[in-house]
Amino acid sequence: MASEEEHAAAVTSYLAEQASRLRSSDSAVALSNEDALSAGADLRGKVVVVTGAASGFGRSYALKAAQLGAKVVLGDLKQESVDVVATEIRADGGQAEALACDVTDWDAQVRLFRHARNTFGHIDVVAVNAGIAESSDRFLNFAKTDDGEPVKPRMPTVDVNIVGAGYTTKLAFFHLRENPAKEGKAVVILGSMASWFGLPGAPVYCMSKHAMLGLFRSLYFDAQLCDIHLNLVCPFFVHTSIFGTLPKLLLAGIPLPSVDEVVNAMVAATAKNVTGSVFVVDFKRVSFALRVPWAAYAHGPDGYYQVFARRAQGLMSFGKWAFDVVSAVVGAFKGR
Ligand SMILES: NC(=O)c1ccc[n+]([C@@H]2O[C@H](COP(=O)([O-])OP(=O)(O)OC[C@H]3O[C@@H](n4cnc5c(N)ncnc54)[C@H](O)[C@@H]3O)[C@@H](O)[C@H]2O)c1
Repeated sequence: MASEEEHAAAVTSYLAEQASRLRSSDSAVALSNEDALSAGADLRGKVVVVTGAASGFGRSYALKAAQLGAKVVLGDLKQESVDVVATEIRADGGQAEALACDVTDWDAQVRLFRHARNTFGHIDVVAVNAGIAESSDRFLNFAKTDDGEPVKPRMPTVDVNIVGAGYTTKLAFFHLRENPAKEGKAVVILGSMASWFGLPGAPVYCMSKHAMLGLFRSLYFDAQLCDIHLNLVCPFFVHTSIFGTLPKLLLAGIPLPSVDEVVNAMVAATAKNVTGSVFVVDFKRVSFALRVPWAAYAHGPDGYYQVFARRAQGLMSFGKWAFDVVSAVVGAFKGR
């Protein structure tokens, strides 16, 4: 068995290797905060739904979107906490609606989206933002039950960060597809640097954020068919209320990006004319757009992944075309 030092050295070199691989991507494009925000004018008049809007990125993005002229619909666990943000927006002359919405509750999310559509007529932009950190129950604790078996792990992080985000994304696609606009529709998903790197001590959080990368990469095809811009924002650690004292201590001395920088990336991800991009907001305090959905396909012999992706895309396009033809024929018969 490796000693603790050997183990620590191996983890360090593994993380460094992952970081250098991401950094060496040819397709990274620097994006200044000014650049990101200049796109924000396009949020004027848009109807924007934000989950986890009472705190951190969700709250600040909602405030920024409202300042830029968007009508925002805020969801979070407690009505009082989203009411505070909505009141702040209205006091500043903006338009906001607030609803208690636990993202793990499908019916509550259906109500949130229905409220947005019924109030403002349609939905243009969705920020899939609500999230929690690793549970305090250590995933790999080796406690045993009375009969000597491992204790079943509790995984609320999966419930919120994967199931909840999945519900929000499904509802976002449903409502944005119903919106007849051809332009200006966007979904931003909150990933993390943990979408790319292993995070020692937080395997479940890391699993949940890798899941967001998979969701984003897979739905990229559907997003194109639905005229939706789909982007992923991946912040490094940022001081919000998501982390307790221990991670903050572990981060001592490391320069962290600010909430504003993440919000600028979210604005760019929802307003800029880009899709299929990851906005990495990292410890170098810069945001940059990195077109990565195809990165995985570059590997593997003979571009098998590329072939598969092309076929999958072709099948979906064909399916949409066939559906349109059948709908037109059925419509013509009904109209006789
Ligand atoms: N802060 C960071 O360092 C960091 C880094 C990368 C990614 N992220 C991601 O950014 C997103 C926002 O996090 P944040 O840092 O602003 O944290 P935060 O704790 O400040 O805000 C998260 C919000 O989500 C809400 N929330 C939690 N569970 C919910 C549920 N079941 N239903 C509805 N709302 C719920 C919380 O009440 C809170 O208002 C999360 O998805 C997080 O994983 C954060």
